Amino acid sequence: MSIDRRKFLQLTGATVAASQVAACAGIEKIPTQGVPRSNFDEDSTAEEVTEGVDLQGKLAVVTGCTSGIGFETMRVLAMRGAYVVGTSRSLEKAKAACKKVRGVTSAVQLELSDFDSVVACADAIRSINQPLDILICNAGYLGGSGDRKLVNGFEKHFVINHLGHFVLVNRLLGRLYMSWQGRIAVVASRSSYTDAPDGGIEFSDLEASRNYADRRAYGHSKLANVLFALQLGKLLMGTRITVNSLHPGVINTEIDRNLNRFMQGAFAVVTALGFGKTIEQGAATSCYVATSPLLGSTSGKYFEDCNAVTVVSDGHLHDEAMAAELWRVSEGLTRDYLVSHDGPDWNDFERALQKRRSG
Ligand SMILES: NC(=O)c1ccc[n+]([C@@H]2O[C@H](COP(=O)([O-])OP(=O)(O)OC[C@H]3O[C@@H](n4cnc5c(N)ncnc54)[C@H](OP(=O)(O)O)[C@@H]3O)[C@@H](O)[C@H]2O)c1
Repeated sequence: MSIDRRKFLQLTGATVAASQVAACAGIEKIPTQGVPRSNFDEDSTAEEVTEGVDLQGKLAVVTGCTSGIGFETMRVLAMRGAYVVGTSRSLEKAKAACKKVRGVTSAVQLELSDFDSVVACADAIRSINQPLDILICNAGYLGGSGDRKLVNGFEKHFVINHLGHFVLVNRLLGRLYMSWQGRIAVVASRSSYTDAPDGGIEFSDLEASRNYADRRAYGHSKLANVLFALQLGKLLMGTRITVNSLHPGVINTEIDRNLNRFMQGAFAVVTALGFGKTIEQGAATSCYVATSPLLGSTSGKYFEDCNAVTVVSDGHLHDEAMAAELWRVSEGLTRDYLVSHDGPDWNDFERALQKRRSG
C-alpha cells in the first residue's frame, strides 16, 4: 500500500507535527489573489530561494539566531552578503552562533519576555546607525509542562511570541523606514488556525485562566503573529515598508525543548523519516519573504511554502477587525516601552504616516 507523507502524518496523530496536519484536514486554503506566485515549494531551501539575490550593504536582524530556523536564516542572509545581527537570550550563545557563520554578523542579547531587554536590543540595533532592511521576527517559545505560566500577569506564549516582538518592531520602524525597502517577516505557524481558540484572540482572558493547554496557548500567540502582520501591513500602506507572516513548515528543531521525552522522540522520528522539512527547507519561506524581488509591494499577507495563502474555511487569520483590536490592546499593554521619539528618521516617518492617514 502506498501512502504519501501528509497521509502518514494524519495517521500518526501523536506528535506535534501530526497534530497540526491532522487538524488541517478539512481546512481549505487557496492562493492569495494579487500576490505574485513563486516557483518554489515545500522542498525549496533557503539557499535556493535566495539564489542570485545580492544583499551586500543591507542590514538584517534575525531574532532567535542560535538554533533551528533562525540560525539557518542568519547563515543564508549573511552568505548572500547582508550584515546580520542575530539575537539570543544569552549574549554568549548569540556570539557563538555568529562565529559559526561566514560573512558579517554581530550578536545582541534579547529576552522577549523582558521589555527592558527588548528596548535595549532595539537601541543596540539603532546604534549601528544604518537603515534596517530586513527584520525577521523568528524567536519563539512552545511550552510543554501543561502548566500555565504568566509574565507580568499575562500568558507566557502571548508575551514572548507576540508582545515582545510587537515592542521590538515598533521601536525599529523608524530604521526600517530609512531603508530603500524595509521588510519585516514574522515567523508564525499553522498553529495559528489549527490550535488557536475557536473564538480567536481571547481579549477578555489574556492570562489564559480558562481551558489552558500548551498548544492552545501557542496557537493563540501564533494567531496574534499573523494578525499583527495584517494590521501593521494596513498601517504601513503607502510607505516602502512591508510586513508579512509565515508558517515555516514542520521541522525538527529545538522548539520541542519543553516537550516530554515521548513527544520529543516522536517528533524526531517523524521528521527523521522525511515527514517534515529539513532545517534548510524550514528557513526558505522566511528568506523568500524577506528578499524576493517579486514581493516588493506585498504586505499584510500570510505565506506557506514560499507562497501567499488564504485560509478560506475557518480561523481568524484574515479577520481585520480582530487584527485592529489586537493592535489597540497590544499598544495599551506595552505603551511604556514603545517608540522613543528621538531620531529625525522617526519624525519623518511619523509625518509621512500622518499625511497618509489624513490624506
Ligand atoms: N520547528 C517547527 O516545526 C515550527 C513550526 C511552526 C513554527 N515554528 C516557529 O519557528 C520559529 C523558530 O523556531 P525553531 O523551530 O527554529 O525553534 P528553536 O530551535 O527552539 O529556536 C527558537 C529560537 O528562539 C529563541 N528564543 C526562545 N525563547 C526566547 C525568548 N524568551 N526570548 C528571546 N528569544 C527566545 C531561542 O534562542 P535562545 O534559546 O538562544 O535564547 C532560539 O534561537 C519560532 O517562532 C517557532 O514558533 C517552528
